[in-house]
Amino acid sequence: MKKKMEKNIVLIGFMGCGKTSVGKRLSMALRREFVDMDDFIEKREQMTINEIFAQKGEAYFRSLEKELCSRYSVYGSKIIATGGGVVKNKENIENLKKGGIVFYLKSTPEHINENLKRDDTRPLLNTPDKLAKIKELMAERESFYEDGCHVSVDVSNMEIEETVNYILEYIKKGAKK
Ligand code: S3P
Repeated sequence: MKKKMEKNIVLIGFMGCGKTSVGKRLSMALRREFVDMDDFIEKREQMTINEIFAQKGEAYFRSLEKELCSRYSVYGSKIIATGGGVVKNKENIENLKKGGIVFYLKSTPEHINENLKRDDTRPLLNTPDKLAKIKELMAERESFYEDGCHVSVDVSNMEIEETVNYILEYIKKGAKK
């Protein structure tokens, strides 16, 4: 018998908040396919995100991101980790909300800075003062994340496993309703 299509579980939030790690674990726990949008784009383009930004520009990257959000606007039983800038486009959020339940993994600039202190894969944060840049982008985006989600989860003091369990519980409760 064909398995019933469930809503996607979509993770949004700032770079370095744990979307990919949480998404992978959720995918294992629920036996659902995991889609990491940045990964998908890198494979498709055969380039890293840094290379795409440098050689083709941010606008090109955003157009690929938009295409993916549109593709996942239908129910598909997937776990989806988005890129942190996906919320900049209202249509993206509408599409993701249409096909899934959207969780915002909310974190503080300090926590993010700690997570990304040795990371150089985020082109927007390749600046001398990473924390200042994180604060600036966060201030611009915070309301988009809050408005763009169904559920906001403060993960700044949570281990990955705790976040995963929180989301699993939430989904379970919803399924019983
Ligand atoms: C971006 C976040 C990144 C990636 C790109 C741009 C952003 O994804 O899509 O570097 O604008 O916040 P992660 O949130 O997975 O780091």
